[in-house]
Amino acid sequence: MPAAMLRVIRLSALALLLMVAGLWGYAWVRKSPQETLGESFAALVAGAFGHQTGLPSAGGGMQLPPGLTLGGPFRLTDHAGRSVTEQDFAGRWLLVYFGFTYCPDVCPTELGTIAAALDLMGAEGEQVTPLLITIDPQRDTPQQLANYVTLFHPRLIGLTGTAEQIQEVARRYRVYYARVQRPDMTDYTMDHSSFIYLAGPDARVRALFRPETPPETIAAAVQAQLRAARARS
Ligand code: NI
Repeated sequence: MPAAMLRVIRLSALALLLMVAGLWGYAWVRKSPQETLGESFAALVAGAFGHQTGLPSAGGGMQLPPGLTLGGPFRLTDHAGRSVTEQDFAGRWLLVYFGFTYCPDVCPTELGTIAAALDLMGAEGEQVTPLLITIDPQRDTPQQLANYVTLFHPRLIGLTGTAEQIQEVARRYRVYYARVQRPDMTDYTMDHSSFIYLAGPDARVRALFRPETPPETIAAAVQAQLRAARARS
């Protein structure tokens, strides 16, 4: 087979794989407590083909289904090597992304989106702290994260931890991630779901944004949440 055709086949397979991984991750996020992950995934696939929607969405972000709480407490290490918990960010709004510094394209794109959204918000953006939580703590040391976060935003904070700490925070956000060894690569890579989470001052998630959501949409949704919170107080 000609090399060009092989490349097309390989890219299509990769695109399909990423799509399935994305849907799977999303199924994990939206699944209700009574539903198995398989059922949620099936409903989602059906929805993708127009049989059923029921995907809640408002203001460009996806609202959480009733009864589902995401986010909450964590204990991690920041890119300066300090031990931090959600208490260190108490009272702040957070834009949280789970990824890893060796990610070839999806993570850099989404982190760029977060940075752009914060810039679009102007002074209001300063009320929001952007966080990158690694799902590859083996390679993402504080030093590795410190070098990486500055590429995206001056206030972006990289967080790592032990394998168990990462597992725990990922569970609270229903993040899917898995180590993958491809035969044509010398080093492993990570598959992971890719959502941007907006967490409120209590560290609970208020909205999430699917991959490739434009920065304008995120900025508008975050500003709407900030204004609603101000109106309530
Ligand atoms: Ni990635």
